[in-house]
Amino acid sequence: MHEKKIPEHRRSQLSFGRKGKDGFIHRSWMKAQGLPDDVFDGRPVIGICNTWSELTPCNSHLREIAEYVKRGVWESGGLPLEFPVTSLGETQMRPTAMLFRNLLSMDVEESIRGNPIDGVVLLGGCDKTSPGQLMGAASVDLPAIVVSSGPMLNGKFRGQAIGSGTDVWRFSEEVRAGKMSLEDFEAAEAGMSRSRGVCMTMGSASSFASVAEALGLALPMNGSAPGVVAERQRLAHLSGRTIVRLVVEEKPLSHFLTRRSMENAIRVHAALGGSTNTVIHLLAIARRIGIELALPDFDQLTRGIGLLANVQPSGAHLMEEFHDAGGVPGVMKQLGNLLDTSCETVAGQTIGQVMETAEIYDEDVIRPLNDPVTPLAGTWVLTGNLCPDGAIMKPSAATPELLRHTGPALVFENIEDYKARIDDPDLEVTPDSVLVLKGCGPKGYPGMPEVANMALPKKLLEKGVRDMVRISDARMSGTAYGTVILHVSPESVAGGPLGKVRTGDIVNFDAAERTLNVNVSPDEWRRRENTSAADFTPATRGYQSLYQKTVEQANIGADLEFLRGSSGSGVDRESH
Ligand code: FES
Repeated sequence: MHEKKIPEHRRSQLSFGRKGKDGFIHRSWMKAQGLPDDVFDGRPVIGICNTWSELTPCNSHLREIAEYVKRGVWESGGLPLEFPVTSLGETQMRPTAMLFRNLLSMDVEESIRGNPIDGVVLLGGCDKTSPGQLMGAASVDLPAIVVSSGPMLNGKFRGQAIGSGTDVWRFSEEVRAGKMSLEDFEAAEAGMSRSRGVCMTMGSASSFASVAEALGLALPMNGSAPGVVAERQRLAHLSGRTIVRLVVEEKPLSHFLTRRSMENAIRVHAALGGSTNTVIHLLAIARRIGIELALPDFDQLTRGIGLLANVQPSGAHLMEEFHDAGGVPGVMKQLGNLLDTSCETVAGQTIGQVMETAEIYDEDVIRPLNDPVTPLAGTWVLTGNLCPDGAIMKPSAATPELLRHTGPALVFENIEDYKARIDDPDLEVTPDSVLVLKGCGPKGYPGMPEVANMALPKKLLEKGVRDMVRISDARMSGTAYGTVILHVSPESVAGGPLGKVRTGDIVNFDAAERTLNVNVSPDEWRRRENTSAADFTPATRGYQSLYQKTVEQANIGADLEFLRGSSGSGVDRESH
């Protein structure tokens, strides 16, 4: 009989390769699923970490996608084992899916570490699922590959293409301005979400999937291939083959996830006009895996890069056109020597080799470096007496005329205060007012919701105003737009100066100088109470209590402080 050499050091063999009672227990119960004896012969055991859920509609096809991954794993001589983890439906979870990103990351980390697997396929898509998975995987550091949900097909409404999220915000403002009927607004619902998959604008999900590709953690075109086409299934199949090879070659996540690959990803993200949420996720992932990365890096690394992906919300097209035009490899090709071409990818090629074979089929959708949609791109990092630890903004989604602005603050103490007053006909507001929202940071809300792109006062919308400067410690959806300054750190509830701002204070914002300040005399400022911190009542039980006690600020990733770093993959003690 052919004697197969068993790689004893392989992690799964610590369970499945054992003799006696322990090996019996590990194998016997697995055989209840119809697995033959010889699948425990030392072949790579691949966990398929699935965030499928019908309450996460963007990921609701991932059970099917998992079957394609399994094909590739079996075919390459591995044993695929799918397991569920917490799923976070961005459009469903209250108070915000972001509150639970760190919980998902813990679930992923412990599920990977606790089980006898040698490598893992991360199946995710909807905004917080893929970042949470990658954070968890980074704290274990086994071989890993990202397989994304892929975007929905383009939205359609009365013959026009419409974009997820972006057109919700636009239509909603049109209804409030009296320019669109409520009937038409409601009729657009089904047309916007035409298939399963993630938002088909360059929202948070597609931004992160694209960044995973630029990091070298996913196969080329994974970031943009639509969720329901054969190419998505083929990519899943090929990813199954790939993860087996990564296990055999013993290349863990940290082999690809490095400071250099992070820099590449940040530059690609700028050219994509990617979501501000990516910033917070990459900071958290870097801290998990031990990469030095700070908020100002997002600004400094992207100076001079314009918006190359002409995709909503900053551009005109949708993800289908972006994919057809060449996707992330096309953008990387346009960036040329701004990227470190020597970075390796899970595909077995360097970034440079991916760029060499990339094609750009439509230069209106993926612009050359010298002809961007707008030269104002990337993530700009502001500092000043309103945000000593930083705040960010997305210039490609802002109104150029508002990038330098001085105006009186109109302060809302919390989201309830904002909702109660924003449409009050007696609200004292002008187009020059600066809308300030407090109490929406990680600790305060809790979970830092996507409310920073506050809808404008109805009375100004009716007069044709479509943008104003807005400031908060909240996040905003990757599909949103406007002159929005967000992630103000420290947040108001944690003692940040935002908590002391009052209506009528003069705010100075100068995007070119990267400054955000409030003009109040030092004496007056010292006397003032931080109203947010004074009113804050934290939760007393459950996950929310743990979260509020330990969550860090947005400028360093909003992770839980005890999750920073890695515990590796080893577990010494047996379960029985
Ligand atoms: Fe799931 Fe946009 S709501 S990706």
